[in-house]
Amino acid sequence: MRPGAARTGGLAALVAACLGCAVDPSPSVDTTCKKTPPTGPYRLDANAGSVLPDLSLPGIGEGGSGPVHLHADYHVPCAEAAQLLVIRLVGGAWCGTSRWHGQHTSDLLFTPRIRVIDVVTSDAENNPAGTFALEAWRAFVNRPNQIATVLDPELTLRGLFPPSGAPLPLYVIVDARTMVVRGWMSNPDPDTLHHQLASHLAALDGFAPPPPPKVFRWDGLFTRDQWDLIRQITPPGAPPPDPTNAVADDPQAAAFGKALFTDTGLSRTNTVACVTCHDPKKQLSDGLPRALGVGEGDRRTPRIALAAHAPAQLWDGRADTLWAQALGPLEDEHEMGSSRVSVARRIATAHAAAYRAVFPSHALPDVTRLPDHAKPGDAAWLALPPEERDRVNQVFVDVGKALAAYERTFRVPETALDRYARSEFDALTPRQKSGLSLFAEHGCFQCHHGPRLTDDAYHVTRMATGRRDGKADRGRLDGLAALLASEFRADLRWSDRKSTFVAPSTHPRLLGAFKTPSLRGVAEAAPFGHGGTLATLVEVTELYGQGGLPAGDPRTVGEIEPWLPTFDVTSQWALPPILETLGGAPLAPGL
Ligand code: HEC
Ligand code: HEC
Repeated sequence: MRPGAARTGGLAALVAACLGCAVDPSPSVDTTCKKTPPTGPYRLDANAGSVLPDLSLPGIGEGGSGPVHLHADYHVPCAEAAQLLVIRLVGGAWCGTSRWHGQHTSDLLFTPRIRVIDVVTSDAENNPAGTFALEAWRAFVNRPNQIATVLDPELTLRGLFPPSGAPLPLYVIVDARTMVVRGWMSNPDPDTLHHQLASHLAALDGFAPPPPPKVFRWDGLFTRDQWDLIRQITPPGAPPPDPTNAVADDPQAAAFGKALFTDTGLSRTNTVACVTCHDPKKQLSDGLPRALGVGEGDRRTPRIALAAHAPAQLWDGRADTLWAQALGPLEDEHEMGSSRVSVARRIATAHAAAYRAVFPSHALPDVTRLPDHAKPGDAAWLALPPEERDRVNQVFVDVGKALAAYERTFRVPETALDRYARSEFDALTPRQKSGLSLFAEHGCFQCHHGPRLTDDAYHVTRMATGRRDGKADRGRLDGLAALLASEFRADLRWSDRKSTFVAPSTHPRLLGAFKTPSLRGVAEAAPFGHGGTLATLVEVTELYGQGGLPAGDPRTVGEIEPWLPTFDVTSQWALPPILETLGGAPLAPGL
């Protein structure tokens, strides 16, 4: 589609009014009419003023069909008045700041002289984008049919980011008559975005730029978009329903789960329970770099007060329900070191009445006919008749479901940040406010947003491994393989409502990616990172400021995401005060 002059002409005056810039309603036509210039390199840092490459990208064009050809569809060499092509790199539905811009697209961008292409690299979990990612993103865009959306799972447009990184969305402004890149804006506030676009059009038409806008700031600090993201920080209440667990909200199951959570008899050594590592006095974590159970693990224990809200569990997302997660530590050789047969035996001997009350239709196995220990992989497990294995598996799964019912009762207290987000402007000190302001400016809201301050997605931030062998942790790439192999997935036999499982691609971009943790409770929960290698919050912000561990450092793998900006020491020290407000003991009945 070539809009050409049809999109300009008499509409120019209208646009000028919209954007507040003066444009001659009858501009002179350039009769020499520039031809398509040669394509060239497009690193913005080196080549502001270079020509946008002539790419064809799969996706949905303005008319509803794809693919989208940058030059064939958008180059209008003979347009009478200036036109802009705005390439907006949005990441995907995981990204808090991009979502804000998507929701306000029609206020921000729709004028006849500006056409927009959204570039989606990933889906809601930050897996490389496919068709679902396109739909997930378009759900956030108001009037999606008026813009094009393209997929770029291989990050071919990575070169549009400055080398120091820049938060999403990244607006790249192109003169549609020459396809020359004029500049870019990273996560601009709406007033500045308007002003910049109007200035580009004015300059191309030979007019002076409009006067700079008066940017309104909430509490004298926060722009409209930033304040909207702050307002979304509300204290999380009850978790969303979990239809895969029939006893998820059964109080009797929660009481049974509570007894299991503290029962050291479920471990091989009779010394370790869930509560050993998820201690309510330590934000339901343990304060250690590496978890210490019957042995030492390779990762840091996460805070679990809000685990029931997350669509997937563990640093690498290898469990897709809370109940399936609970089965892992019971059999893990470093955590509780037990086996499902020993767990069934423990239930039959120490918790039979509670079990029968919660699961009246499930029979406990006859423990006299069972070996002491057995789990898949053991000869003793294979030697059991299939119906006996089924009965053991049933009890094992039920233990997970009761534990999950208990974990679903956990709550977190309100924080000073929650009160500030409700417009109690004196709830934060000036230092905390400036921390929050930098949190917004440096794009932390991309991933840490909403009530729990997480996007529930997986990212490469290049934090160090905690593995005892010192090797880099492969994160999501291995987690996905484990999920694919799991017998306890939400779409399989043991789930009370089978969900549809769409296996995400095992793409190299998942190498070294980890689940974004909720920041609630972070104030009292050192050390940090999946490997527990960052002792203080300043060490965390220092690492972000430097763009993660440098390329080639053997303690980590994966490529840092180009939307993570680097920043200086001043910000590194100024950010922690806002994180320090995110504390307070987690709450649960009788914790
Ligand atoms: C030895 C210490 C230890 C014990 C015991 C332990 N955990 Fe954990 N827990 C961890 C570690 C370490 C992780 C992260 C592991 C990973 O991601 O690979 C974790 C992760 C979790 C998560 C996922 C949280 C998230 O944000 O992804 C939940 C939920 C959880 N544990 C619940 C339990 C329950 C229930 C039990 C008892 C059956 C238990 N844990 C026993 C150390 C422990
Ligand atoms: C691209 C997504 C992304 C952005 C942007 C981001 N984070 Fe994170 N954050 C993560 C992920 C993923 C982790 C866990 C990484 C790991 O352990 O390997 C994390 C971990 C953290 C932790 C440690 C929490 C814990 O329990 O260990 C803190 C604190 C934190 N981020 C603060 C920030 C701040 C401050 C900013 C802005 C400067 C920021 N994050 C920007 C994704 C992001």
